[in-house]
Amino acid sequence: MANNLLEGKRGIIFGALNSQSIAWHVAEKAHEQGARFVLTNAPIAMRMGEINGLAEKTGSKVIPADATSVEDLEKLISESMEILGGKIDFILHSIGMSVNVRKGNHYTNENYDYTMKGLDVSALSFHKVMQTAKKLDAMNDWGSIVALTYIAAQRVFPDYNDMADNKAYLESIARSFGYHFGVDKKVRVNTISQSPTMTTAGSGVKGFSEFISFSDMMSPLGNADASACADYCVTLFSDLTRYVTMQNLFHDGGFSNTGVTQQVIERFSEE
Ligand SMILES: NC(=O)c1ccc[n+]([C@@H]2O[C@H](COP(=O)([O-])OP(=O)(O)OC[C@H]3O[C@@H](n4cnc5c(N)ncnc54)[C@H](O)[C@@H]3O)[C@@H](O)[C@H]2O)c1
Repeated sequence: MANNLLEGKRGIIFGALNSQSIAWHVAEKAHEQGARFVLTNAPIAMRMGEINGLAEKTGSKVIPADATSVEDLEKLISESMEILGGKIDFILHSIGMSVNVRKGNHYTNENYDYTMKGLDVSALSFHKVMQTAKKLDAMNDWGSIVALTYIAAQRVFPDYNDMADNKAYLESIARSFGYHFGVDKKVRVNTISQSPTMTTAGSGVKGFSEFISFSDMMSPLGNADASACADYCVTLFSDLTRYVTMQNLFHDGGFSNTGVTQQVIERFSEE
């Protein structure tokens, strides 16, 4: 369904690792809606090579950048403006990684070097992206910047580990930077709090497939999938949401406002 909602818009999309990635779906949908953009990911993620297929399909260039490196980000953003022929209208930050989760360290037994690395990749990188874009005066007025988050920033999901803290920090950056970018350039900054989704990052969380089923049962509309999340991102990049900023927006089928569902109650009465 193409309505040309993003006709004439230029973007940068971080985080398309493979066809499961939320960013991958966003790139496909943004392309359908007429946007032109640069795809980027960490140099190490490029080795898997899948992003080139997406670039071909969407007529995009790929520029590797480690989102924790300001030098890489300066190069990425400057080159993107050259390639796309002007300032940027939208940015998707779809990046997350916890070394403690990867190494199986319990939340009460963190390795703090790993914690700092995860925080840098998952949260501080969002500040770095925006600070770099602002210093380079790379955003068009009324541009839109979105990062992806999870409800573990507000409620405890024990196996989400230190990613919960990273997401809380990420959401705070969206509010704080959103203020300054709004005042200066009318640029809006939001986070989308997405349902659990089967991707490379998601499946790193212990017990994830059971958890996805639980979450589905606890959501009146069921879990939102990556494709639906991409649709929501498109609306936020479009001109139809110009006054939405500094928000954490739940895209979760109603999970965040549900105490219990009949389906869950029935599961207990079966036992
Ligand atoms: N999958 C879920 O259940 C879920 C739910 C809510 C929010 N999210 C969030 O959505 C976002 C995208 O994750 P996904 O589920 O699509 O998984 P994914 O694994 O496909 O994407 C994560 C991306 O982060 C990139 N990345 C890691 N380190 C980086 C670095 N230093 N520089 C640049 N890029 C780097 C990876 O290469 C990868 O492309 C993340 O912020 C994640 O926390 C995911």
